[in-house]
Amino acid sequence: MEYHIRQYPLQQGALEIQYIEEHFGEFPRRKTSAEVIQRLDGRDHQILMAEAPLPNDPATVVPVSYKVAHELRAEEADPRLEDLVVRLHDCVEFRDRKILYSWIGATRRDWRGQGHFRALSEAQEAWALDNGFDEILVKTKNKFYVMRSVLDNLEFDVVKYEVNPRDNRESKVYLSKRLARAVRDHHRSKRAVVQD
Ligand SMILES: CC(C)(COP(=O)(O)OP(=O)(O)OC[C@H]1O[C@@H](n2cnc3c(N)ncnc32)[C@H](O)[C@@H]1OP(=O)(O)O)[C@@H](O)C(=O)NCCC(=O)NCCS
Repeated sequence: MEYHIRQYPLQQGALEIQYIEEHFGEFPRRKTSAEVIQRLDGRDHQILMAEAPLPNDPATVVPVSYKVAHELRAEEADPRLEDLVVRLHDCVEFRDRKILYSWIGATRRDWRGQGHFRALSEAQEAWALDNGFDEILVKTKNKFYVMRSVLDNLEFDVVKYEVNPRDNRESKVYLSKRLARAVRDHHRSKRAVVQD
């Protein structure tokens, strides 16, 4: 199977993210396009979406999976990112290195388990390598068992675990993948990435 991936510019990509997040009832706080723009504007970023045909109308192709990543710097003005950097300072080296934070992503329920997220992740890694990044970081929670399995399969290493004393399922797990040329050699998906 060849995966079809579209890489979006900021304004259009932010609208597409807002639109696709409406399909995810399980997300308590869905991102708005304004939030996406505020986060990504003025920093290196990537908005990717995988597209696939509707099962009952194969002529119609729709976005089914997405992934958004952005640069994370040692000095951040946004309080949420500043907090993230503080939490990571003892396990991630920021000095003289370019860090990519894999911020949001998911696959629509009917298209899960078909390799779309792996294809997006591999496209993200290839872009990150081409753009001089040294490491990809991602944050999840103990309770997101499927995401944890997926990150495991994509060979992310746990770098930090932050216990939530009230509810361990809510504990935060930070994972990282260090980028080297060999990463590209392990890519499995056949994919075509077009720029919108
Ligand atoms: C996690 C999620 C993005 C995976 O998307 P997907 O398109 O189904 O993933 P893929 O089909 O590309 O699978 C990627 C890898 O994970 C594995 N995987 C996928 N679903 C899995 C599952 N339910 N259990 C275990 N492993 C699984 C696949 O086997 C694959 O590994 P492989 O390529 O070595 O075979 C999707 O399930 C999702 O959107 N979940 C809801 C969002 C969420 O959990 N958010 C957490 C917030 S951090």
